[in-house]
Amino acid sequence: MTKPLLIVSSKTGNTRVIAHAVADSLPDALLTTAEKLPEDLSGFNPVGLFFWCDRGMAPEDTKAVAPKLAGKKIACFATMGGDPKAERAQEWMKKTSEALVASAPDAELAGTFLCQGRIDPELFAHMSAMMGGEVSPEREARRKAAEHHPDRLDTIDAVKAWQQFFN
Ligand SMILES: Cc1cc2nc3c(=O)[nH]c(=O)nc-3n(C[C@H](O)[C@H](O)[C@H](O)COP(=O)(O)O)c2cc1C
Repeated sequence: MTKPLLIVSSKTGNTRVIAHAVADSLPDALLTTAEKLPEDLSGFNPVGLFFWCDRGMAPEDTKAVAPKLAGKKIACFATMGGDPKAERAQEWMKKTSEALVASAPDAELAGTFLCQGRIDPELFAHMSAMMGGEVSPEREARRKAAEHHPDRLDTIDAVKAWQQFFN
């Protein structure tokens, strides 16, 4: 019997909330980070890759760990500041997950899950300053929409997604 392996990347804590919720639903799972990945992965399968949208890409630690997951069934879970229901966001998730899984020989993408995550206030202020200091009503509305995510429903949906992918 192999155990589930959950690998999380999280800069400001949002993705960690999702990963912990899934871990809580899987008593045998190991929740870890790319830095603390065990040497021998033979006892683990399936794998959850939990990451966040970093300037339109997967973060560096996730990209570095993915090639080590040869032969695994992988589900990708991500958070982003933008609207996860938007077509652009869905396309990003699909493309990014497929590229991560393709970097591991004989790995298989079991499914993807995407939800919104609060944008770090310092980052938002920094980006606003770079854009001339004015925050348009549209940008402010997007920031506000993300403010309370991931919420309880996001964590429930993530747990359901895992069950759907692997049961
Ligand atoms: C350096 C940086 C770059 C980001 N780039 C994007 C982006 O390109 N698109 C987006 O929708 N959100 C972006 N975000 C927002 C994060 O993806 C979002 O807040 C995510 O939930 C952060 O996850 P974490 O709290 O687990 O680090 C960015 C955040 C940071 C800190």
